[in-house]
Amino acid sequence: MNTVEIIRKKRDGQELTTAEIKKLIRGYTDGSIPDYQMSAWAMAVYYQGMSDRETADLTMAIVESGEQVDLSQIAGIKVDKHSTGGVGDTTTLVLGPLVAAAGVPVAKLSGRGLGHTGGTIDKLESIPGFSTELASAEFVKRVNDDKIAVIGQTADLTPADKKLYALRDVTATVDSIPLIASSIMSKKIASGADAIVLDVKTGEGAFMKEEADAIRLAQAMVAIGKHVGRTTVAVVSDMSQPLGYAVGNAVEVKEAIDTLKGEGPADLTELSLMLGSHMLVLSGKYGNAAEARKALEQAIRDGSALAKFRAFVVGQHGDGTVIDQPDRLLQPRTKRKVLAERDGVINKIHAEEVGLCAMKLGAGRATKEDQIDYAVGILLHKKVGEPVKKGEPLATLYVNNEEPVQEVEARLRSAMEIGTEPVTPPALIRSIVT
Ligand code: URA
Ligand code: CA
Repeated sequence: MNTVEIIRKKRDGQELTTAEIKKLIRGYTDGSIPDYQMSAWAMAVYYQGMSDRETADLTMAIVESGEQVDLSQIAGIKVDKHSTGGVGDTTTLVLGPLVAAAGVPVAKLSGRGLGHTGGTIDKLESIPGFSTELASAEFVKRVNDDKIAVIGQTADLTPADKKLYALRDVTATVDSIPLIASSIMSKKIASGADAIVLDVKTGEGAFMKEEADAIRLAQAMVAIGKHVGRTTVAVVSDMSQPLGYAVGNAVEVKEAIDTLKGEGPADLTELSLMLGSHMLVLSGKYGNAAEARKALEQAIRDGSALAKFRAFVVGQHGDGTVIDQPDRLLQPRTKRKVLAERDGVINKIHAEEVGLCAMKLGAGRATKEDQIDYAVGILLHKKVGEPVKKGEPLATLYVNNEEPVQEVEARLRSAMEIGTEPVTPPALIRSIVT
């Protein structure tokens, strides 16, 4: 079947065979199928959808378009965790050491932040000396010795996804569940994961704003996992307000340290325990989520999770003294308090706007080429549902460059809506898809 016939078949709502999907992705990757044909196909998928079997085939075709990370030198079942992206999402920094402390290997490839959401690699690099570029032998040794290493992606993984995502971006075909699901899952599978725990965010600061869409995406990804033999569990979690209090890089490292000591924000702690316990179950080391959760809580209580974070930092050439002296993390020149202008209750904290404010201060990138200032960011003092008095600080801005401060102050004040009536905070965990 030629490319036109494959496009027509999908346009008319028929199911493509494994061979047809492979042919399409191979041809697109090697350049023999042009952008205009691939765009037409993507639009046909947008309208007609794909069966679970087709979506799984598409995922594996994308995986096979590039290199695949080989983690076979690392003992045990490698469970990866992926978040669809949030504001102030410090979970990987907490989860990694927590899960490793429970004896399950964490061999993670992470990304940098873009736009209003931050990236784990940037946060880790805010720790003085920390290297996210380990050679593969060192990466494997770190995981075998300490049970944890996190590096940036170096190998040429999923080139078909890069090309297809760029094309979807300019042809109004990004928001198709099978295309998103295969895009995300292909990257996790190519990174060597045996099993996957997904944190699918929903709400204003998330890629999937509507909860029903987030659940559909979660179901599509769990179905892919089943088809390709990588057990996948998805937690759908709230991203209508930022996670925890800290939004930035060094400030989020500090928040992760506090959380590993058992002194962190309730939402960040809960989400880390929830995702972590599913990781432990998928690893095969724990029989059920309740038992796994106890082990994680114990690791926080007895200090082994914090000790693991120190070993992780030192293992990747970072300054381990920051764990006991977080003041040694990069500090901004000034801290500016944003004060409440009236009494009331926090009704909303618009997550996307808070993320954009942090970016404006220099904590994130608008384009891939932008430099990040690790010391700057935002520390919120309130969460949705909490009472506030006029003149009380709503947030502290960590500032190096004064220029955007006035604008950020005004925007942040509007992003943190104060009402007169009590409100119920949004539920953190919305759904668990297995
Ligand atoms: N994130 C991805 O990695 N892929 C998509 O298609 C959408 C969001
Ligand atoms: Ca946070």
